[in-house]
Amino acid sequence: MSRATQVAKVADREKTAGRLLKSSADKFYDPLIDIDWDAPTTDGLHYHPEHRISLYGTELWDRMTPEQRIELGKHEIASIASTGIFFEVLLMQMLLKQVYRHDPTTDHVHYMLAEIADECRHSTMFGKACKRFGAPAYGPRPWVKQLAKVLPALSRGPSAYAAILVAEEVLDRMQREHMADETLQPLIRMVNRIHVLEEARHVTFARQEVVQAMSQAGFLAKHYHRALTAIVSYFVMLSLVNPRVYAAVGLDPRKARKVARNNPHFRATLHYWGERIMKFLGEADLVGGPTMPLWRIAGLVK
Ligand SMILES: [Fe+2]
Ligand SMILES: [Fe+2]
Repeated sequence: MSRATQVAKVADREKTAGRLLKSSADKFYDPLIDIDWDAPTTDGLHYHPEHRISLYGTELWDRMTPEQRIELGKHEIASIASTGIFFEVLLMQMLLKQVYRHDPTTDHVHYMLAEIADECRHSTMFGKACKRFGAPAYGPRPWVKQLAKVLPALSRGPSAYAAILVAEEVLDRMQREHMADETLQPLIRMVNRIHVLEEARHVTFARQEVVQAMSQAGFLAKHYHRALTAIVSYFVMLSLVNPRVYAAVGLDPRKARKVARNNPHFRATLHYWGERIMKFLGEADLVGGPTMPLWRIAGLVK
């Protein structure tokens, strides 16, 4: 890359960061102040739309009572929110490492700090939501958590941002539907509204980082980033519904997990959640090569 192109790219980055910083100052919520955590829940309202629940449409689903279905939706949404916390914490670690390396007088670094602050509030909000509904913060399974410890050391450049984008955009697609759904608990809709509003800038920032870094990546680097993005995305999707949620509503977790995995309705949901980010990753040349089967198992590619 020529010196002139490099200077132009840094200027672009600063411009985007400046704009996002302004948006961070204008539009942000504090979940400790802006959410009434003591507001009562409404009987009969859902926590997660029925058609997005992992067992929806199966024989097992037909045998469940209406109360059991609402309860399963509550536990699945607690599992998804706490998996969100897990990925936010990984993102914060990666951003902090970038802050450590770069010039703290730039808007680029200031924006990264603002994003860390956003994620701190989000993780608090998701944790409080699980507590409010009396559901555990399931998070990913323990072996996935162990494995993920190597991630901040392995991931840098486009795959670091691409993998986080998968978690952010999958959640975003789900949450936009939640916001508009009047059959859901008002508290769930508020949590989702806040997250969607603040994540829009994270997505803009990460997409720019991915495009810029991929335009500079050589042949080997491209393959490395494709493989790492596929592996992390597989774990994102695998972790959304922790099998312990089934035990919480009196189902056999092993059997129910198998039913969910083979459920065409849930496969369609996973695909729907990932549709937007997969289009972007495809255009950024991050999907392809020997890791294609992982995208399929994850439900992100048909
Ligand atoms: Fe977030
Ligand atoms: Fe985010």
